[in-house]
Amino acid sequence: MTGKDENIFTVEYADGKLMLLDQTALPAAERYIECENWQRVAKAISDLEVRGAPAIGVTAAFGLVLAVKASLVTTHKEILNELEAVAESLIATRPTAVNLAWAVQEVMEVARSSQTTEEMQQNVESTAQRLHAEDLAICKAIGDAGAELLAEAKNVITHCNAGGLATVGYGTALGVIRSAHRENPNLHVWVDETRPVLQGARLSSYELHRDGIDCTVIVDGAAASVLREGEVGAAVVGADRVAANGDVANKIGTYGLAVLARYHGVPFYVAAPLSTIDSATPNGSSIEIEQRPGLEVSEYRGEAITPPEVAVHNPAFDVTPAELVDGIVTEVGVLRAPYETSIREALNK
Ligand code: MRU
Repeated sequence: MTGKDENIFTVEYADGKLMLLDQTALPAAERYIECENWQRVAKAISDLEVRGAPAIGVTAAFGLVLAVKASLVTTHKEILNELEAVAESLIATRPTAVNLAWAVQEVMEVARSSQTTEEMQQNVESTAQRLHAEDLAICKAIGDAGAELLAEAKNVITHCNAGGLATVGYGTALGVIRSAHRENPNLHVWVDETRPVLQGARLSSYELHRDGIDCTVIVDGAAASVLREGEVGAAVVGADRVAANGDVANKIGTYGLAVLARYHGVPFYVAAPLSTIDSATPNGSSIEIEQRPGLEVSEYRGEAITPPEVAVHNPAFDVTPAELVDGIVTEVGVLRAPYETSIREALNK
């Protein structure tokens, strides 16, 4: 999942179709979903067939490409109105990851400023292709900016999947680990399984193993004792949204890991592109947390694991307060506290 691997990719657009690696089938099967319309793209995002903040942003951008190409309405204004409605529907599929709304807005800006239908189609497609290409380059820059943080580490711990599968390729948190591994090839990764959808167990271990990076999966509840005993040099995770004050929304369980890391004196880093920073969100309490279906928790492989009458609470994300974050690794370098200042400076560069 380094982005150079021709045998496997997360998201690719060619010949009027969007191909997505079906992440619900991994690691058992490597199969692709062929999306011919934006509605199928929206379903793929909602159903976690494609997931991870940067990957769903790029995917939604191509959803707009499919929509503008398929539009049956006649005038430029009508097509734009139709596209605005599609944009709204795509943004609504997953509310927490700001990259989704960001990428859709990048595409809509060029759609709105196009003068003709043909120009709109061309500009929408070239913008989606640009976001696709940039995502890979940005992830590599994040990886290289963060590698030195793990230069001396024997072990690193990560949560969820912030890898090539969550991006166009290379990854953010796993990008840092990939870049560090080049200089520190004995680096070992503790991978939280990440209940309830198991992005760590199914996806992070799959791509680390594919790249020859030594890793061990643990249940989320084992992180505390691993941090106490496991000679862990750092925790590195991704992000779905970083508020202006440095509070970080990421996969449920990230906050717990950050608390554990601080208690055990282990530095806790967040790796994310600048497009994950939402300067319009002042702090974590203003971030909408996506609530997922209870069945993700109450069933395992279609079998009930809780009594049907018992309630389930299934927030997909939590917020880690900035004070627990030792650094935010971005494509322009590692941002440090006070984050209000370092984030503002990074965004204004
Ligand atoms: O629900 P998911 O699988 O989309 O959640 C993904 C995460 O929380 C990732 O850590 C985050 O999107 C960063 S991906 C580079």
